[in-house]
Amino acid sequence: MHKSIALFNHKGGVSKTTTTFNLGWMLAEKGKRVVLVDTDPQCNLTGLILGEKLDDFYTDNPTRNIHAALAPAFLSQPREIAAVDCVEVAGRPGLTLLPGHVNLSEYEVTLGIAQELAGSIQTLKNLPGAFNYLVTKIAEANNADYVLIDMSPSLGSLNQNFLASSDCFLVPTSPDYFSLMAIDSLSAVLPRWAEWARRAHASETLQTAAYPFRELQLKFLGTIVQKFRPRLGGATVGFQTWIDRINTAIRERLVPQLQTHHLTLPEQVYHDAGNSPAESYCLAQIPDFNTLAATSQLHKTPVFALTDPMFGHVGTVLEQDRVKRDQFHGLFSELADRVIALADHA
Ligand SMILES: Nc1ncnc2c1ncn2[C@@H]1O[C@H](COP(=O)(O)OP(=O)(O)OP(=O)(O)O)[C@@H](O)[C@H]1O
Ligand SMILES: [Mg+2]
Repeated sequence: MHKSIALFNHKGGVSKTTTTFNLGWMLAEKGKRVVLVDTDPQCNLTGLILGEKLDDFYTDNPTRNIHAALAPAFLSQPREIAAVDCVEVAGRPGLTLLPGHVNLSEYEVTLGIAQELAGSIQTLKNLPGAFNYLVTKIAEANNADYVLIDMSPSLGSLNQNFLASSDCFLVPTSPDYFSLMAIDSLSAVLPRWAEWARRAHASETLQTAAYPFRELQLKFLGTIVQKFRPRLGGATVGFQTWIDRINTAIRERLVPQLQTHHLTLPEQVYHDAGNSPAESYCLAQIPDFNTLAATSQLHKTPVFALTDPMFGHVGTVLEQDRVKRDQFHGLFSELADRVIALADHA
């Protein structure tokens, strides 16, 4: 059985897409079979993986994307939702992608109505369970251990559905005031979504739909803080202040709300994951990639998997590149180990 892990924060630009790609790659490097799902109409993850082949891909493969895959339910096409032939990620066996689509946002309004009425309109009853049905079919077809779901920065009905359909979720953050604000709004929104999902699952109409709405299983795995400027292994004072405040907000405000609504794992499981700092819910502190960021995008390869020829440097500069790459490799390897341990309990 696979585990589906959503990467969610309605705050934009906090490394959801970058982390989906990097974490997925690292899990595959550890021998896991991983499917990445791009649910963001911006299609950044798909662009990161396909690069310059992006436009030709959609012309040559009009049905290999999330929009076409969900069309049987959303556009009432007379066929069943089925697994799509996913895209193999170049350079990383075991890692595949269900591409996103710019038109996915067309489904937002109808899904919103279907979810608000929780099954009272017969013709819309197949929508709330469609995404979970698709993910399950794709996971089975790929024999996946993990499905990582990259989400858009929004609190709309699609995200409400994607999150409620996942087994667990990670919250990427960045060390600034806006990320702190986002933690407080998540503390209010996530309990509402969870209660909605429990009501929806209890609806007989949704249970007897062609794509039944699954029971809520969602569990919080933790946060990742990213893109700070490092100093002596830690963060500079300014960044550290925000990292501390965000960790406090998560511990004192977000987690108690999630606990009340049964969206957390047993405390001991987080403790055993060996988070850093201890007794926090932070699974990884990833500094700014700096100059490696551009090289990574150019080669469609995570910073920690860049090879010597990809750096394009020699001598001491190459030596420094290797040191940085290996540091990032250590950080993402630890992150993946924690995710594996936590998701096992979800
Ligand atoms: N550790 C890092 N160091 C340097 N740059 C990073 C790092 N993580 C992410 N970035 C860059 O920050 C930008 C935002 O990252 P990303 O697109 O992953 O965020 P996102 O949360 O998916 O954004 P959105 O909310 O728009 O979907 C990108 O340009 C990405 O390359
Ligand atoms: Mg993104």
